[in-house]
Amino acid sequence: MKRPELDAAWQALHSHRKEWRKLHLRDLFRQDKRRFERFSLRLNDLLLDYSKNLITAETMKLLLRLARAAELEKAREAMFSGRHINLTEDRAVLHTALRAPADLNLMVDGRNVMPDVRRVLKQMGQFTDKVHKRRWKGHTGKPIRDIVNIGIGGSDLGPAMVCQALTPYARPGLNAHFVSNVDPTHLTEVLKRVNPETTLFVVASKTFTTQETLANAAAARAWLLQNAKDGRAVARHFVAVSTNRDAVVNFGIDPDNMFEFWDWVGGRYSLWSSIGLSIALYLGMEHFEELLSGAHDMDVHFRSAPAAANMPVILALLGIWYNDFWDAQAHAVLPYDQYLARLPAYLQQLDMESNGKGVTRDGKRVKVSTGPILFGEPGTNGQHAFYQLIHQGTKLVPCDFLVAAESHNPIDDQHEMLLANVFAQSEALMRGKTAAEVRAELKAQGLKKKDIDRLTPHRVFPGNRPSNTLLYHRLTPRNLGRLIALYEHKVFVQSVIWDINAFDQWGVELGKQLARAILPEIKTGKPARGHDASTNGLINYCKGLREEP
Ligand code: F6P
Repeated sequence: MKRPELDAAWQALHSHRKEWRKLHLRDLFRQDKRRFERFSLRLNDLLLDYSKNLITAETMKLLLRLARAAELEKAREAMFSGRHINLTEDRAVLHTALRAPADLNLMVDGRNVMPDVRRVLKQMGQFTDKVHKRRWKGHTGKPIRDIVNIGIGGSDLGPAMVCQALTPYARPGLNAHFVSNVDPTHLTEVLKRVNPETTLFVVASKTFTTQETLANAAAARAWLLQNAKDGRAVARHFVAVSTNRDAVVNFGIDPDNMFEFWDWVGGRYSLWSSIGLSIALYLGMEHFEELLSGAHDMDVHFRSAPAAANMPVILALLGIWYNDFWDAQAHAVLPYDQYLARLPAYLQQLDMESNGKGVTRDGKRVKVSTGPILFGEPGTNGQHAFYQLIHQGTKLVPCDFLVAAESHNPIDDQHEMLLANVFAQSEALMRGKTAAEVRAELKAQGLKKKDIDRLTPHRVFPGNRPSNTLLYHRLTPRNLGRLIALYEHKVFVQSVIWDINAFDQWGVELGKQLARAILPEIKTGKPARGHDASTNGLINYCKGLREEP
């Protein structure tokens, strides 16, 4: 990366930002009738409308210059070709290989990984087929009715989000449940709803050392054995998905019931690997493969489209524009689709665990602001909760709206109402409402001047608030694959421009370490003394409460 060029690109954007003091989106739309065509992109039926952003042609030119200065194309090729771009863990980053076509050859550390990818896909296909055709039976000979995925983080959020999103494609007669939290309530409530004779537990953990997952898996096994009273039942009701064969065997799961993946698949990028087994079981292998194909469509687009017409690049640059030049702290993802209710939670891990970093790839403190706080809820619910702040608050919150043109569940004109709301929101954010418009409205309602004067400031909307809209025909497996891969690559592009490693997550380690130290202190009778006063105080007060009847 050539530092002077990069510094000059940042500097040019800072200067350009000042020009925006005089600009308003309402005027830009009025002046340019082709703004929508100019600032929108399509991939198959997926449309990205980014025209309601605080951009001009000059802004985009300067943002693209920044991408060039950061040598984005080189970084992208390094990822796709299996270089060890995850420097702190010395690993390749190849989730894209998991959705690549069968005839590709991809060498990682001197080994073509594609035969392994295909072998595991085949194993998943054979296994799901057995379950679906009722040839895989529980210990009393009954077919499987409930899949319980036990995993956390990337071994939970992706599969859980996808299973919910694609519910219309679910296999009849099978339910999917997800247990992640070490809070015993999570497992307890799921176990209340399933039958030990007809339940299959998928223990999903890349490392197979994660405390929450191992505790939940051990408790699930105890629950099964309480009913089955025969250790052989475990082999009929437990399968594992992991990179750690020894730990799987140690846990007591038959290695024949293990689905492998590899260290070059990051946890939060793993739903495309055998971590997607719960997805394949719940939706069928054909739909899982459609999901992979959708992601591959986006990979091809990302790898080949010129930067100015490249969806992940554009989304990434817009995010950087607000994050680093407008001081935006947050980014809202607002799916107008109840099926996508878990998308924001999934994206929180993808974005915040990847780009919530404070040092550069070579270990120096970053000089720019990195990943935003990501949040969101399905529309229209969010409109009645936090949208007030986005419309009239003092913070700039760029938004992504997502919506399908057609619903899987049409009732009267409800989907049309949903569509009307999502389009209205981005329009309102962009246009706002001026004092003159408010005054005219209140006057037409017959209010007195005194009341008009008093109310007007409260009812003005500044507008000029940015949003993207992602619009597609229907939420199919293929479209969902495209959308997820779009966000994955967006996050990657941003990491390249911020010069941070998007593929490690050391920030989650300290809490894990300290929790391991505190656990025995909670269990023993002796008061805790080795921490700061607050932590000691909390532990000891809690122990006191637990001793009360
Ligand atoms: O939260 C840290 C983390 O390592 C995530 O990156 C990962 O997705 C999650 O824990 C679960 O890890 P594993 O799949 O190894 O159980």
